[in-house]
Amino acid sequence: MPNRPYVIDELISAKAIAARIEELSREICREFRDTDKLVVVGLLRGSFVFIADLARELDVPIEIDFLEASSYGNAMESSREVRILKDLRGAIQGRDVLVVEDIVDTGHTLNHVIALLKSRQPKRLKSIALLDKPSRREVDFKSDWIGFEIPDEFVVGYGIDYAQRNRNLPFIGKVRFTD
Ligand code: IMP
Repeated sequence: MPNRPYVIDELISAKAIAARIEELSREICREFRDTDKLVVVGLLRGSFVFIADLARELDVPIEIDFLEASSYGNAMESSREVRILKDLRGAIQGRDVLVVEDIVDTGHTLNHVIALLKSRQPKRLKSIALLDKPSRREVDFKSDWIGFEIPDEFVVGYGIDYAQRNRNLPFIGKVRFTD
């Protein structure tokens, strides 16, 4: 994987992403305008480009932390196990926290991460995802902010990969197989 030939069709331009991030960061700053320091938590690895651009638009004091989760399907039980591969470096009890994700697909990953972080008793906990595929949802989860709703397509670029490729594209594109 991926041995099948494919091309990438642009779905969301770099310019549209930048404009949307400007809008979203204004809303986030309004929500957290009174914070002493917002902990911005990036979910590795897909959010690394998004968090870099978003963080530079945020006009409130912030610090950055990262968390890596991985979700495995279990066909037998039609369930998913979400595992934490890398936990936060810092404590978040009593803190303002914003979790930054690339895509909400089935919803299992962010749902699990939010429940875990909530158990650590932050003062305020919000989440933002650049992309949302609502038609794929398996758990009842809604991110506080969404960049773009997209149809059920496999997308790459702007940090998001297909078998670790294409993360460095400046735009979001959809994968189209050509064989
Ligand atoms: P969820 O637990 O199903 O919501 O999984 C979300 C994760 O699945 C994202 O953080 C991505 O890593 C991955 N994912 C979902 N859809 C896509 C896609 O279209 N392209 C690449 N990765 C995806």
